[in-house]
Amino acid sequence: MPSQPNRRSFLKQSTLAASALGFPSLLRSANANSKLNVAVIGVDGMGFSDIKSTGDHEAVRFVGFCDIDSTRFTNADAAYPGVAHFTDYREMLAQLGDKVDGVIVATPDHSHAPAAMQAMRLGKHVYCQKPLTHTVWEARQMRLLAEKTGVITQMGNQIHSNIEYRLGTHLLKEGAIGKIKEVHSWVGVTGNERTKLLEPPTTAASVPSHVNWDLWIGPAPMRDYAPVYHPFVWRDWQDFGGGALGDFGCHILDPVFTALGLNAPLTVEARNSGINRHIWPTTQRIEYVFPSNDLIAGDTLKVTWTDGGLRPDRKLAKMPPELDLPKSGSLFIGTEGNMVLAHVAGPRLYPVEKFQGFSYPKVESFNHRHVWVDACIAGKKTSDGFHYAGPLAETVQLGNVATRLATGGEIDRRTGAPVESTLIEWDAANLRIPNRPDAEPLLSKSYRAGWEIEPA
Ligand SMILES: NC(=O)c1ccc[n+]([C@@H]2O[C@H](COP(=O)([O-])OP(=O)(O)OC[C@H]3O[C@@H](n4cnc5c(N)ncnc54)[C@H](O)[C@@H]3O)[C@@H](O)[C@H]2O)c1
Repeated sequence: MPSQPNRRSFLKQSTLAASALGFPSLLRSANANSKLNVAVIGVDGMGFSDIKSTGDHEAVRFVGFCDIDSTRFTNADAAYPGVAHFTDYREMLAQLGDKVDGVIVATPDHSHAPAAMQAMRLGKHVYCQKPLTHTVWEARQMRLLAEKTGVITQMGNQIHSNIEYRLGTHLLKEGAIGKIKEVHSWVGVTGNERTKLLEPPTTAASVPSHVNWDLWIGPAPMRDYAPVYHPFVWRDWQDFGGGALGDFGCHILDPVFTALGLNAPLTVEARNSGINRHIWPTTQRIEYVFPSNDLIAGDTLKVTWTDGGLRPDRKLAKMPPELDLPKSGSLFIGTEGNMVLAHVAGPRLYPVEKFQGFSYPKVESFNHRHVWVDACIAGKKTSDGFHYAGPLAETVQLGNVATRLATGGEIDRRTGAPVESTLIEWDAANLRIPNRPDAEPLLSKSYRAGWEIEPA
């Protein structure tokens, strides 16, 4: 672990950097001990995984647990008894003030940006669960605000630091399968398999006494409470989550972005099995076209995302006949061979004959949350900070923008060929969709009064 003088000098430097940029000197100054004081927003579900995995770092001390559901503290309390409870993160951040160095955000997606941006504005380092944000605009603001405040950030797509993805990206960067001609990424879940509903329930259920529904709704349009939203099932609903792509895109496209140095697509074409204004589709296919670079064979690179059971043709991989593609993962087609990178398993190179005797290099595996803690202490950027995670999250959410435009396409499950598609051109620098300006409102959303987000 880096020594305390490093931490002191970093926090001082960060404070100076923030001041120079016109931000008040709010970054935590060095405290008497070498602990990183962490507050957590959303403490069960994935939040509890984050608590366990962050908390076993010797420098971490939890100073606040916040959840809108009083029944959801049990696991966190059992692991870390005595940490102060809060229901409203705004009150937690105000009351704890400079007792907090870093904040973990593990709420449903629609509440990520308001919580994370408030924390960054107060000079707190932020670890924010994937898919980082709920909209393209929010992802851009998160990146810009991280840059302006100088806080240390990381997205919670923890497999980024695992040996499987690190080995896969290392091999691709080293050219193990040559230059890349095309990529297919897929996940074996549908965008609406948890609710089975197509529209919000029409009969209101009474709000359980342990749930603060107003705070759960947060920035989203108010609607009646029903158990089909909280916990977990919110991800199927457009107002709160991002369906299959939102849930898994920042995991499965992460090694594609990292290995191939991708940033913003040029175009995004979407097809789906039918969508309304409430629920994400059962099946979608998104074709992203990215500009070329040294690792890419052609003038552009097509990355095709599918979900809901659609997978690429296994013959593309040139795998042995007894093998099949994994339920979820990516297939990289290179000029010198192919790689299948399952979600989550080590990379496999094909055809087998060509890679017999291939010597896999040794790469290190890290605890993703410890990477963030160490970076906060040492004052170093993480490889998965918002400078990187922002463009990845923008790309994921852009796929969902195109999906919401492609309203009528039924996908033929036999051939995988959808009937209709919608293509958007992407002007990343200006956050514009030149060929479909009518789609630009979908890059952001309306915020409930009192929950508006100030641009970075
Ligand atoms: N990295 C991963 O592998 C992974 C896996 C699952 C979920 N996630 C992400 O983690 C986040 C949480 O997902 P989940 O499946 O745990 O959802 P969940 O609904 O099970 O848990 C969310 C928790 O946040 C609380 N919460 C909701 N709104 C809140 C608010 N405004 N303030 C404080 N607490 C609030 C809920 O009561 C609940 O305890 C999502 O962003 C999801 O995409 C990541």
